[in-house]
Amino acid sequence: MDRKKAERRAADLLSSMTLREKIGQLHQTGSTMVSALPGIEVDIEHWVTEMLEGRMSQDEFQSRMAMCKEDLRLAEISRGEIGSFVNLYEDEKVAQVLEASYQSRTGIPAFIGVDVIRGYRTIFPTPLAMACSFDLELFRRFARVAKREAKICGVNWCFGPMLDVARDGRWGRIVESPGEDPYLASEIGRTMIETYQAEDEDGPLLATAKHFVAYGAVSGGQDYNTVSLPKQLLYDVYLPPFRAAVDAGVGAVMSAFHDLNGVPCTCDRWLLTDVLRGELGFDGFVVSDAEGVKQCVAHGVAKDEREAAKLSLLAGGDMDMSSWDYANYLEELVSSGELSEADIDRAAYRVLEKKAEFGILDQRYVFDPEKIAKTVLCQEHRAAAREAAEASAVLLKNDGALPIRSQCRNILIVGELAENRDDLLGPWAFTGNKEAVATIPEGMRNCAPHGVEIEYVRGFSVSDDESGFEEALEKCRNADFVVAVAGETAFMSGEAASRADLRLAGAQEKFLLKLAELGVPNAVVLVNGRPLAIGALQENPGIHAILETWHMGTEAGNAIANLLFGTANPSGKLTVTFPNAAGQEPMYYNHPNTGKPGGEFKFTSKYQDVPVTPLYPFGYGLSYTAFSYGALEIEERELGQNGVLRCSVAVQNTGERKGKETVQLYTHDVTASLARPVRELKGFRKIELEPGESARVSFEIPVQSLGFHDRDGKYRVESGEFEVFIGPDSAGGLRDTFTVK
Ligand code: GLC
Repeated sequence: MDRKKAERRAADLLSSMTLREKIGQLHQTGSTMVSALPGIEVDIEHWVTEMLEGRMSQDEFQSRMAMCKEDLRLAEISRGEIGSFVNLYEDEKVAQVLEASYQSRTGIPAFIGVDVIRGYRTIFPTPLAMACSFDLELFRRFARVAKREAKICGVNWCFGPMLDVARDGRWGRIVESPGEDPYLASEIGRTMIETYQAEDEDGPLLATAKHFVAYGAVSGGQDYNTVSLPKQLLYDVYLPPFRAAVDAGVGAVMSAFHDLNGVPCTCDRWLLTDVLRGELGFDGFVVSDAEGVKQCVAHGVAKDEREAAKLSLLAGGDMDMSSWDYANYLEELVSSGELSEADIDRAAYRVLEKKAEFGILDQRYVFDPEKIAKTVLCQEHRAAAREAAEASAVLLKNDGALPIRSQCRNILIVGELAENRDDLLGPWAFTGNKEAVATIPEGMRNCAPHGVEIEYVRGFSVSDDESGFEEALEKCRNADFVVAVAGETAFMSGEAASRADLRLAGAQEKFLLKLAELGVPNAVVLVNGRPLAIGALQENPGIHAILETWHMGTEAGNAIANLLFGTANPSGKLTVTFPNAAGQEPMYYNHPNTGKPGGEFKFTSKYQDVPVTPLYPFGYGLSYTAFSYGALEIEERELGQNGVLRCSVAVQNTGERKGKETVQLYTHDVTASLARPVRELKGFRKIELEPGESARVSFEIPVQSLGFHDRDGKYRVESGEFEVFIGPDSAGGLRDTFTVK
């Protein structure tokens, strides 16, 4: 619906509503699990923790959940006291909740908000993995499939994209992020929001830019921890993706859990009103993160939940996700005069305006199981997920062992992660269907050339258990090729999954080093959510190849098989730096030079016990072919403030097979009033070249995009000398200079 009409609809509706009904629109909650059997105590929090931390099997967890029943709060919804629902995954229940909201006096449909982070039923690779594709078209295809599946199942609000720039691999949610670069994160955010919210054949889906703001900068990479940032860093690194999201018209923003410089984002008026609305021009509504309003008490800035509700609403937090503080206290706060009805109207109007604009007010969802069954997980969607997975893999090491040669007739796959559907699916895939996941042995058998034997043995897992080593190593000795699958389980990254040690957990590395001694051709396939300190594998010549596959989702096994057999050629480039050790984090490419940049000389900025350079730098990724770069050409070396840097380079595929290369352009402001990063990504182009083919890749970079924010958050482009780099990653490439007058 067009904006003006939506505004009128919202205003009319608001004028007919009671105070309680308005407050209902500001209250979002999920279902409540209650015991279905007399005498059975339900302790969901404890059960979820046990399962997520691996002390309770998924099956045990499911059997306990079977003893519970979900209270969908249909009575409150039909009384208009709950206007929005979070994280319902079963189609029938979604239809029930929507139907109940249609029965309310106002008939305003409920929001059904879900984390469609990696797809709905068809699960794509993790966002960090897809970012490594450097392919915005892939994100468009992903968002179209995700929207189609979510909407047909009744979902009308997506809690995504997550746009938190992340520089610290210890933080579990790096898996969910677009990586460490603000420019790439902005491009991905803009692309996803435009596609989710497009008035296309599937209609618009309300998107949410989250988590506002700088959640990726939690101290120590420890989830939910405090964030302390100077303004220039906030404005240069963490705000840009949200500015891009607002410019793309994002309808909702989710405030973050943490405090920013001492003020919880949930109730930070400067952040949610002055910056988000005043400076960025956001005009949608803000929803808190789960129970974020209540947490203002624990933060120590609200004396009780009643005060938390007041502070949060006045700060510009329009909707309370599942803390019930708005539902419990707003009406009384108005009658006591501490809040005015106008405060409630302002928030309710913002919510209703988006329900109008996204066609939700007139939505009458028809639950159609046949249509759902035909749409979700259809071959077209699975093909899109497989292509996204193939494009997200990053080839980190290869002495030529990959792709697996046709002479290899007996291939052994070892490592529990290869067979575990939950782990191949990965985190933030609660709406996915794990039975639909292709395991790696299944994928290899689907794609193996005729006559090739594929065998699987567990051998090892992420635990310390070495009992399977002997049998597995014996089988490795007799194999023509060994695919060893190592990394992390689905719940070792994601929310509340920070880790202080980035080495492979348990006895994984010990097994791999024994494998390395056998001299059998091999490849390590990584299934993991975050950067890992795998220097021991990189340095060991007995490990012939390392393929980073992240958590690839529904089509994991098929995509990995295509990559190992060479049907697909890896083209991913890392969007997060891999450190040599956790102690080196946060480690990122766009860092200032310092006065004593790390080098040979003792008295320079470095650690004594690990190399100065990262294990793998941002932008790094190999291919089964090779590319060479010709001379960097710059059209004009003296540029004015409104000038455009035009430069180009010829790239040739010098190998024997077709491949894709992501050509990256970085700039460096050599001397400025603030120390500037040694490189900043300003452009990228992914090109496909046949063997021997070359192409000229050109860039046009506006001078106005080369600036930075000063200590007061003011943007400036300073004159002086700049360096420009074009190459295959953030460490090498061609260099030249130009001047801004
Ligand atoms: C979680 C996450 C947020 C998600 C919300 C609803 O705690 O922080 O990203 O959208 O709750 O699931």
